[in-house]
Amino acid sequence: MRASSMVYTSTQLKALDIESILHPMSSIGLLNHFGPQVMTGGKGVFVEDSDGNQFLSADAGLGATTLGFGRQELGEVMLEACKNMGFYQTSVDSSNPTQILLAQKLLNYMPDNITKVFFASSGSEANETAIKILRLYNVGQGKPQKKQIITQDFSYHGSTMFTSALTGMEGFQNDFVIDRQDIISVPCPVFFSETSDASIEEAFVNKLIEILRYRIEEVGADNIAAFMAEPVLGCAGIVIPPKGYYDKVQALLKEYDILFVCDEVLCGYGRTGKMFGYQHTQLQPDIITSAKGLTSGYFPLSCVAISQDIWQVLSVQHNNFGVFSHGFTSCGHPVGAAVALKTLEILEEENLVENARLRGEQLLTGLKEELNDNPYVGSIRGQGLMVGIEIKVDQQEIKDFNDFEKNLLSQTERACLDAGLLVRTARLSNSNFMVPPLTISSAETELLISRYVKGVETAIKNYDRI
Ligand SMILES: Cc1ncc(COP(=O)(O)O)c(C=O)c1O
Repeated sequence: MRASSMVYTSTQLKALDIESILHPMSSIGLLNHFGPQVMTGGKGVFVEDSDGNQFLSADAGLGATTLGFGRQELGEVMLEACKNMGFYQTSVDSSNPTQILLAQKLLNYMPDNITKVFFASSGSEANETAIKILRLYNVGQGKPQKKQIITQDFSYHGSTMFTSALTGMEGFQNDFVIDRQDIISVPCPVFFSETSDASIEEAFVNKLIEILRYRIEEVGADNIAAFMAEPVLGCAGIVIPPKGYYDKVQALLKEYDILFVCDEVLCGYGRTGKMFGYQHTQLQPDIITSAKGLTSGYFPLSCVAISQDIWQVLSVQHNNFGVFSHGFTSCGHPVGAAVALKTLEILEEENLVENARLRGEQLLTGLKEELNDNPYVGSIRGQGLMVGIEIKVDQQEIKDFNDFEKNLLSQTERACLDAGLLVRTARLSNSNFMVPPLTISSAETELLISRYVKGVETAIKNYDRI
């Protein structure tokens, strides 16, 4: 542990944590059993905890820390922005030079039809904002009832009230009594088969499109504003939709005058091996939301980028709406915008989008070579530095997920930790998944592979399956 954090011992910190913090997205049972892992430092792809253990972070702070840990350059621009002003709002007709430059920079990356951006702090806020903009857009066109949103099972779009409803995971709704009356669910496009018969994949896509058409007809296109989706579903455990799926989805949506909102919160800014995940398809999003990699996670900043068509309606109708009554105190934060500009500069200078593609291929190939024949390992798939590995568990184990002794999937995560590797687990697809920093080198990728293989093999060896 670093000297500056030595006010408390590691044991004291953990006890105080359990005493005082309600952890986001954590199993209270597992946390009480194992205690929190208190992270005290990090450099490159490695992080260190309060017990002095060092880990290769294949989770990169929920996929956000694209530039790796401990980047001094980002701290320097934060310091400058703080010294210069710190904070002044962008609501009520104000602005600042940094958010203006960032908006210009981001629009250069976007397709031509996207012409305006709105800044918020989190991915959830960005998606929530996108939905409110769509409501305004449809009200502006005299169609206030056109407000339902299509989302996929197992998708993740956030945890505010409406984005929880958009999220296709029951846990995000049931316990909180969240109303899904404006949500239309369609199946997760999960196709883990590696068949060489393309017609099987195509038939699966056609089935998904048939279901989508059925759901649209059932509800009525006049009631549906948009389809919101991630290019690669991250929290579902890295689900890469089958070939041609999104292209056919959008063709169908166009038939029915339904817009496409692309949630690039995790995929955006290089993670998939392209600047944005939708660029692996022919998709032409009407709205693009992004966050995480925009600042490499160093400052909470998100972006909603909207099309000229949407903007046109909003601006023509502005007299009816009066004020655009949506926003947050920290919108367009000058410190966050400065971090984002520097992050994008580094992304370009260090050629990290290409590195994500190359290291992603290396990771995928290496994992397949080592684990393809393992009977406990199922599908291994990836796009750029988003990789998922299915661990074969039976139905009872899925129910017993929180019972560590009974569950191979949760044991793999723990065994990887013991092997010096942080990976994440998605119960929905019984998978471990990896989203390491885009800065990972070839040697570090080999280290990641060997630590993962060690972790999985140890978990399997210790696992009493009979
Ligand atoms: C695809 C996607 N959308 C939205 C979100 C929500 O972002 P945030 O946690 O910043 O609210 C996430 C977070 O993991 C995400 O992966």
